[in-house]
Amino acid sequence: LARVFSGIQPTGVPQLGNYLGSLKNWVTMQNSGQYGELFYSIVDLHALTVPRDPRVLRKETMEMAAAIIACGVDPQRSVLFRQSAVPAHSQLHWALGCITPTGWLNRMTQWKSKLQSQSELQSQGGLLTGLFTYPILMSADVLLYRATHIPVGEDQVQHLEFARDLATHFNKTYAHLFPLPQVILTRSKRIMSLKDSSRKMSKSDPNDLSRINLNDSDESIRLKIRRAPTDSIPGITFDPESRPGVSNLLSIYAALKDMPDPGEAAQAMASMNNKQMKDAVASAVVDALAPIRDRMRRLLDDPSHLEQTLRDNEARARDVAEQSWREIAQCVGLPHY
Ligand code: TYM
Repeated sequence: LARVFSGIQPTGVPQLGNYLGSLKNWVTMQNSGQYGELFYSIVDLHALTVPRDPRVLRKETMEMAAAIIACGVDPQRSVLFRQSAVPAHSQLHWALGCITPTGWLNRMTQWKSKLQSQSELQSQGGLLTGLFTYPILMSADVLLYRATHIPVGEDQVQHLEFARDLATHFNKTYAHLFPLPQVILTRSKRIMSLKDSSRKMSKSDPNDLSRINLNDSDESIRLKIRRAPTDSIPGITFDPESRPGVSNLLSIYAALKDMPDPGEAAQAMASMNNKQMKDAVASAVVDALAPIRDRMRRLLDDPSHLEQTLRDNEARARDVAEQSWREIAQCVGLPHY
Protein backbone atom coordinates (compact mmCIF):
# COMPACT_ATOMS: atom_id res chain seq x y z
CA LEU A 1 0.00 0.00 0.00
CA ALA A 2 1.22 3.51 -0.82
CA ARG A 3 2.61 5.35 2.15
CA VAL A 4 3.40 9.05 2.24
CA PHE A 5 6.22 10.73 4.16
CA SER A 6 7.43 14.29 4.15
CA GLY A 7 9.30 16.65 6.44
CA ILE A 8 9.82 20.33 7.05
CA GLN A 9 12.36 22.14 9.18
CA PRO A 10 10.98 24.02 12.18
CA THR A 11 12.02 27.49 11.10
CA GLY A 12 9.00 29.21 12.62
CA VAL A 13 6.31 30.18 10.19
CA PRO A 14 6.61 28.63 6.70
CA GLN A 15 6.98 30.85 3.63
CA LEU A 16 4.83 30.70 0.51
CA GLY A 17 7.36 28.47 -1.30
CA ASN A 18 7.08 25.85 1.45
CA TYR A 19 3.32 26.01 1.13
CA LEU A 20 3.02 25.87 -2.67
CA GLY A 21 5.96 23.50 -3.18
CA SER A 22 5.11 21.05 -0.44
CA LEU A 23 2.56 21.66 2.33
CA LYS A 24 -0.33 22.19 -0.06
CA ASN A 25 0.40 18.77 -1.52
CA TRP A 26 0.51 17.19 1.95
CA VAL A 27 -3.09 18.28 2.34
CA THR A 28 -4.17 17.29 -1.18
CA MET A 29 -2.68 13.83 -0.75
CA GLN A 30 -4.30 13.44 2.65
CA ASN A 31 -7.71 14.48 1.34
CA SER A 32 -7.49 12.43 -1.86
CA GLY A 33 -7.95 9.19 0.06
CA GLN A 34 -5.63 7.53 -2.47
CA TYR A 35 -2.87 6.76 -0.03
CA GLY A 36 -2.60 4.54 3.00
CA GLU A 37 -0.96 6.16 5.98
CA LEU A 38 0.57 9.63 5.80
CA PHE A 39 3.50 10.68 8.01
CA TYR A 40 4.44 14.33 8.25
CA SER A 41 7.41 15.27 10.37
CA ILE A 42 8.71 18.50 11.86
CA VAL A 43 12.38 17.67 11.50
CA ASP A 44 13.88 19.23 14.62
CA LEU A 45 17.00 17.01 14.44
CA HIS A 46 17.77 18.45 11.01
CA ALA A 47 17.27 21.93 12.45
CA LEU A 48 20.17 21.35 14.86
CA THR A 49 22.57 21.50 11.89
CA VAL A 50 22.24 25.28 12.04
CA PRO A 51 23.11 26.40 15.58
CA ARG A 52 20.16 28.15 17.18
CA ASP A 53 19.06 29.30 20.61
CA PRO A 54 17.32 26.25 22.19
CA ARG A 55 14.36 28.36 23.30
CA VAL A 56 13.90 29.75 19.82
CA LEU A 57 14.04 26.27 18.32
CA ARG A 58 11.36 25.02 20.71
CA LYS A 59 9.14 28.01 19.99
CA GLU A 60 9.57 27.74 16.23
CA THR A 61 8.79 24.03 16.37
CA MET A 62 5.40 24.79 17.90
CA GLU A 63 4.77 27.57 15.37
CA MET A 64 5.51 25.12 12.58
CA ALA A 65 3.12 22.56 14.09
CA ALA A 66 0.37 25.19 14.23
CA ALA A 67 1.09 26.30 10.66
CA ILE A 68 0.93 22.76 9.29
CA ILE A 69 -2.43 22.08 10.94
CA ALA A 70 -3.69 25.51 9.86
CA CYS A 71 -2.83 24.60 6.25
CA GLY A 72 -5.17 21.62 6.47
CA VAL A 73 -3.14 18.66 7.74
CA ASP A 74 -5.58 16.87 10.02
CA PRO A 75 -3.82 15.14 12.94
CA GLN A 76 -6.66 12.60 13.06
CA ARG A 77 -5.98 11.51 9.49
CA SER A 78 -2.24 12.13 9.09
CA VAL A 79 0.46 11.43 11.65
CA LEU A 80 2.05 14.79 12.47
CA PHE A 81 5.09 14.43 14.71
CA ARG A 82 8.41 15.86 15.84
CA GLN A 83 11.28 13.84 14.45
CA SER A 84 13.16 13.82 17.77
CA ALA A 85 10.20 12.15 19.50
CA VAL A 86 10.93 8.98 17.53
CA PRO A 87 14.42 7.72 18.48
CA ALA A 88 14.50 5.19 15.62
CA HIS A 89 15.31 8.04 13.18
CA SER A 90 18.66 8.49 14.91
CA GLN A 91 19.23 4.74 15.17
CA LEU A 92 18.62 4.16 11.48
CA HIS A 93 20.72 7.22 10.62
CA TRP A 94 23.68 5.48 12.24
CA ALA A 95 23.09 2.14 10.56
CA LEU A 96 22.77 3.80 7.15
CA GLY A 97 25.81 6.01 7.72
CA CYS A 98 27.84 2.86 8.20
CA ILE A 99 27.16 1.79 4.60
CA THR A 100 27.34 5.25 2.99
CA PRO A 101 30.52 6.11 1.05
CA THR A 102 31.62 9.67 1.87
CA GLY A 103 31.90 10.32 -1.89
CA TRP A 104 28.11 10.20 -2.14
CA LEU A 105 27.85 13.00 0.40
CA ASN A 106 30.60 15.06 -1.25
CA ARG A 107 28.52 15.17 -4.42
CA MET A 108 25.50 16.84 -2.81
CA THR A 109 25.02 20.31 -4.30
CA GLN A 110 23.79 21.79 -1.01
CA TRP A 111 26.97 20.59 0.69
CA LYS A 112 29.14 21.85 -2.16
CA SER A 113 27.59 25.31 -1.93
CA LYS A 114 28.26 25.30 1.83
CA LEU A 115 31.89 24.38 1.11
CA GLN A 116 32.18 27.42 -1.12
CA SER A 117 31.12 29.78 1.65
CA GLN A 118 33.33 27.94 4.12
CA SER A 119 35.53 30.95 4.81
CA GLU A 120 32.65 32.52 6.75
CA LEU A 121 32.60 29.48 9.00
CA GLN A 122 36.28 29.34 9.88
CA SER A 123 35.47 31.14 13.11
CA GLN A 124 33.58 28.08 14.38
CA GLY A 125 36.31 25.69 13.25
CA GLY A 126 34.93 24.69 9.85
CA LEU A 127 31.76 23.11 8.55
CA LEU A 128 29.71 20.94 10.89
CA THR A 129 29.51 17.16 10.55
CA GLY A 130 25.73 17.19 10.93
CA LEU A 131 25.41 19.24 7.76
CA PHE A 132 27.54 16.73 5.91
CA THR A 133 25.51 13.71 7.01
CA TYR A 134 22.16 15.53 6.67
CA PRO A 135 21.11 13.45 3.61
CA ILE A 136 21.62 10.23 5.60
CA LEU A 137 19.22 11.41 8.29
CA MET A 138 16.75 12.41 5.59
CA SER A 139 17.04 8.93 4.05
CA ALA A 140 16.45 7.41 7.48
CA ASP A 141 13.24 9.48 7.82
CA VAL A 142 11.82 8.14 4.61
CA LEU A 143 13.04 4.54 4.78
CA LEU A 144 12.03 3.98 8.40
CA TYR A 145 8.38 4.23 7.34
CA ARG A 146 8.93 2.36 4.05
CA ALA A 147 7.46 5.44 2.41
CA THR A 148 6.62 5.23 -1.29
CA HIS A 149 5.52 8.81 -2.07
CA ILE A 150 7.37 11.95 -0.94
CA PRO A 151 5.78 15.35 -1.67
CA VAL A 152 8.56 17.99 -1.73
CA GLY A 153 9.79 21.01 -3.66
CA GLU A 154 12.46 20.78 -6.32
CA ASP A 155 15.37 21.61 -3.99
CA GLN A 156 14.88 18.26 -2.22
CA VAL A 157 15.02 16.08 -5.35
CA GLN A 158 18.74 15.37 -5.13
CA HIS A 159 18.42 14.35 -1.48
CA LEU A 160 15.71 11.88 -2.40
CA GLU A 161 17.77 10.42 -5.24
CA PHE A 162 20.39 9.87 -2.58
CA ALA A 163 17.79 8.11 -0.42
CA ARG A 164 16.88 5.83 -3.33
CA ASP A 165 20.53 4.97 -3.94
CA LEU A 166 21.01 4.24 -0.28
CA ALA A 167 17.88 2.08 -0.14
CA THR A 168 19.09 0.10 -3.16
CA HIS A 169 22.51 -0.30 -1.54
CA PHE A 170 20.97 -1.50 1.74
CA ASN A 171 18.63 -3.90 -0.05
CA LYS A 172 21.62 -5.46 -1.84
CA THR A 173 23.90 -5.50 1.20
CA TYR A 174 21.41 -7.04 3.64
CA ALA A 175 17.93 -7.94 2.49
CA HIS A 176 15.24 -6.35 0.39
CA LEU A 177 13.54 -4.26 3.08
CA PHE A 178 12.95 -0.89 1.48
CA PRO A 179 10.71 0.19 -1.40
CA LEU A 180 12.23 3.01 -3.48
CA PRO A 181 10.61 6.31 -2.54
CA GLN A 182 9.14 8.34 -5.38
CA VAL A 183 9.23 12.15 -5.43
CA ILE A 184 5.92 13.98 -5.87
CA LEU A 185 6.39 17.55 -7.14
CA THR A 186 3.78 20.28 -7.49
CA ARG A 187 3.60 22.52 -10.55
CA SER A 188 4.93 25.29 -8.31
CA LYS A 189 7.95 23.21 -7.32
CA ARG A 190 10.27 26.21 -7.23
CA ILE A 191 8.87 29.57 -6.12
CA MET A 192 11.43 32.33 -6.55
CA SER A 193 12.45 35.17 -4.22
CA LEU A 194 10.46 38.41 -4.50
CA LYS A 195 13.72 40.38 -4.49
CA ASP A 196 15.90 38.32 -6.83
CA SER A 197 14.15 36.11 -9.38
CA SER A 198 17.26 33.98 -9.86
CA ARG A 199 17.11 32.62 -6.30
CA LYS A 200 14.48 30.48 -4.64
CA MET A 201 12.22 31.95 -1.99
CA SER A 202 13.75 30.96 1.31
CA LYS A 203 13.27 31.31 5.03
CA SER A 204 16.97 31.92 5.50
CA ASP A 205 17.12 35.01 3.25
CA PRO A 206 17.96 37.91 5.59
CA ASN A 207 15.61 40.21 3.63
CA ASP A 208 12.01 39.66 4.77
CA LEU A 209 10.76 41.43 1.64
CA SER A 210 12.06 38.49 -0.40
CA ARG A 211 9.36 36.13 0.85
CA ILE A 212 5.76 35.93 1.98
CA ASN A 213 5.34 34.30 5.38
CA LEU A 214 2.09 32.42 5.96
CA ASN A 215 1.23 34.77 8.82
CA ASP A 216 2.01 38.07 7.07
CA SER A 217 -0.68 40.73 7.36
CA ASP A 218 -2.75 41.64 4.31
CA GLU A 219 -0.91 44.98 4.02
CA SER A 220 2.47 43.34 4.20
CA ILE A 221 1.52 40.79 1.50
CA ARG A 222 0.34 43.60 -0.79
CA LEU A 223 3.48 45.65 -0.16
CA LYS A 224 5.83 42.74 -0.87
CA ILE A 225 4.09 41.88 -4.14
CA ARG A 226 3.96 45.51 -5.22
CA ARG A 227 7.73 45.73 -4.75
CA ALA A 228 8.50 42.45 -6.56
CA PRO A 229 10.63 42.80 -9.72
CA THR A 230 8.91 42.66 -13.13
CA ASP A 231 10.01 44.01 -16.53
CA SER A 232 8.98 46.64 -19.07
CA ILE A 233 7.65 44.26 -21.75
CA PRO A 234 4.04 45.27 -22.47
CA GLY A 235 1.27 42.79 -21.65
CA ILE A 236 1.37 39.70 -19.46
CA THR A 237 2.91 36.47 -20.72
CA PHE A 238 4.29 33.39 -19.00
CA ASP A 239 7.93 32.92 -19.95
CA PRO A 240 10.20 31.95 -17.03
CA GLU A 241 13.38 32.35 -19.11
CA SER A 242 12.96 35.89 -20.36
CA ARG A 243 10.37 37.17 -17.83
CA PRO A 244 11.34 35.50 -14.53
CA GLY A 245 9.71 38.08 -12.23
CA VAL A 246 6.33 38.16 -13.99
CA SER A 247 6.35 34.38 -14.43
CA ASN A 248 7.03 33.79 -10.75
CA LEU A 249 3.98 35.87 -9.84
CA LEU A 250 1.89 33.99 -12.41
CA SER A 251 3.04 30.65 -10.96
CA ILE A 252 1.97 31.79 -7.51
CA TYR A 253 -1.40 32.93 -8.82
CA ALA A 254 -2.06 29.75 -10.80
CA ALA A 255 -1.09 27.51 -7.88
CA LEU A 256 -3.38 29.35 -5.48
CA LYS A 257 -6.28 29.25 -7.93
CA ASP A 258 -5.65 25.55 -8.67
CA MET A 259 -5.07 26.32 -12.34
CA PRO A 260 -3.13 23.51 -13.96
CA ASP A 261 -1.01 25.86 -16.04
CA PRO A 262 0.38 29.35 -15.31
CA GLY A 263 0.08 30.08 -19.04
CA GLU A 264 -3.67 30.02 -18.51
CA ALA A 265 -3.34 32.69 -15.84
CA ALA A 266 -1.28 34.77 -18.28
CA GLN A 267 -3.99 34.50 -20.91
CA ALA A 268 -6.65 35.64 -18.47
CA MET A 269 -4.49 38.66 -17.60
CA ALA A 270 -3.09 39.30 -21.10
CA SER A 271 -4.38 42.85 -21.38
CA MET A 272 -3.45 43.96 -17.86
CA ASN A 273 -0.49 46.14 -16.98
CA ASN A 274 1.99 45.07 -14.31
CA LYS A 275 0.19 46.95 -11.57
CA GLN A 276 -3.17 45.35 -12.32
CA MET A 277 -1.56 41.92 -12.55
CA LYS A 278 0.16 42.44 -9.18
CA ASP A 279 -3.12 43.52 -7.60
CA ALA A 280 -4.77 40.32 -8.82
CA VAL A 281 -1.90 38.18 -7.51
CA ALA A 282 -1.87 39.99 -4.17
CA SER A 283 -5.63 39.46 -3.75
CA ALA A 284 -5.24 35.76 -4.49
CA VAL A 285 -2.49 35.47 -1.85
CA VAL A 286 -4.45 37.47 0.72
CA ASP A 287 -7.58 35.34 0.15
CA ALA A 288 -5.61 32.11 0.52
CA LEU A 289 -3.53 33.09 3.53
CA ALA A 290 -5.99 35.02 5.70
CA PRO A 291 -7.84 31.89 6.93
CA ILE A 292 -4.56 30.03 7.48
CA ARG A 293 -3.20 32.93 9.52
CA ASP A 294 -6.36 33.01 11.67
CA ARG A 295 -6.33 29.26 12.32
CA MET A 296 -2.63 29.42 13.17
CA ARG A 297 -3.25 32.15 15.72
CA ARG A 298 -6.07 30.19 17.36
CA LEU A 299 -3.95 27.03 17.57
CA LEU A 300 -1.11 28.96 19.21
CA ASP A 301 -3.54 30.41 21.74
CA ASP A 302 -3.88 26.93 23.26
CA PRO A 303 -0.32 25.56 23.45
CA SER A 304 -1.14 22.69 25.79
CA HIS A 305 -3.75 21.34 23.39
CA LEU A 306 -1.28 21.58 20.53
CA GLU A 307 1.38 19.82 22.59
CA GLN A 308 -1.07 17.02 23.44
CA THR A 309 -2.02 16.61 19.78
CA LEU A 310 1.65 16.16 18.87
CA ARG A 311 2.22 13.70 21.72
CA ASP A 312 -0.72 11.55 20.67
CA ASN A 313 0.55 11.50 17.10
CA GLU A 314 4.11 10.77 18.23
CA ALA A 315 2.95 7.62 20.02
CA ARG A 316 1.47 6.43 16.69
CA ALA A 317 4.68 7.26 14.82
CA ARG A 318 6.79 5.44 17.41
CA ASP A 319 4.69 2.27 17.08
CA VAL A 320 5.36 2.07 13.36
CA ALA A 321 8.99 3.17 13.60
CA GLU A 322 9.95 0.80 16.42
CA GLN A 323 8.48 -2.18 14.63
CA SER A 324 10.38 -1.17 11.51
CA TRP A 325 13.62 -0.62 13.40
CA ARG A 326 13.37 -4.08 14.98
CA GLU A 327 13.35 -5.64 11.52
CA ILE A 328 16.26 -3.49 10.37
CA ALA A 329 18.26 -4.27 13.53
CA GLN A 330 17.73 -7.97 12.97
CA CYS A 331 18.82 -7.59 9.38
CA VAL A 332 22.14 -5.91 10.22
CA GLY A 333 22.95 -8.18 13.19
CA LEU A 334 22.07 -5.98 16.16
CA PRO A 335 19.96 -7.32 19.01
CA HIS A 336 16.26 -6.70 18.40
CA TYR A 337 14.02 -6.69 21.42
P1 TYM B 1 12.63 22.61 4.11
O1 TYM B 1 12.21 22.73 5.53
O2 TYM B 1 13.76 23.45 3.64
O3 TYM B 1 11.41 22.90 3.16
C1 TYM B 1 10.17 22.24 3.31
C2 TYM B 1 9.54 21.98 1.95
O4 TYM B 1 9.33 23.20 1.24
C3 TYM B 1 9.89 23.10 -0.07
N1 TYM B 1 10.34 24.43 -0.49
C4 TYM B 1 10.01 25.02 -1.64
N2 TYM B 1 9.22 24.62 -2.65
C5 TYM B 1 9.06 25.46 -3.70
N3 TYM B 1 9.64 26.69 -3.77
C6 TYM B 1 10.44 27.14 -2.78
N4 TYM B 1 11.00 28.35 -2.86
C7 TYM B 1 10.65 26.29 -1.65
N5 TYM B 1 11.37 26.41 -0.50
C8 TYM B 1 11.16 25.27 0.20
C9 TYM B 1 11.04 22.11 0.09
O5 TYM B 1 11.40 21.52 -1.13
C10 TYM B 1 10.46 21.12 1.07
O6 TYM B 1 9.69 20.14 0.42
N6 TYM B 1 15.40 18.45 4.13
C11 TYM B 1 14.04 18.93 4.06
C12 TYM B 1 13.14 18.39 5.15
C13 TYM B 1 13.13 16.90 5.27
C14 TYM B 1 12.43 15.99 4.43
C15 TYM B 1 12.69 14.70 4.98
C16 TYM B 1 11.60 16.13 3.32
C17 TYM B 1 13.76 16.18 6.22
N7 TYM B 1 13.51 14.83 6.05
C18 TYM B 1 12.17 13.55 4.38
C19 TYM B 1 11.08 14.97 2.73
C20 TYM B 1 11.36 13.70 3.26
C21 TYM B 1 14.07 20.44 4.20
O7 TYM B 1 14.99 21.00 4.75
O8 TYM B 1 12.93 21.07 3.76
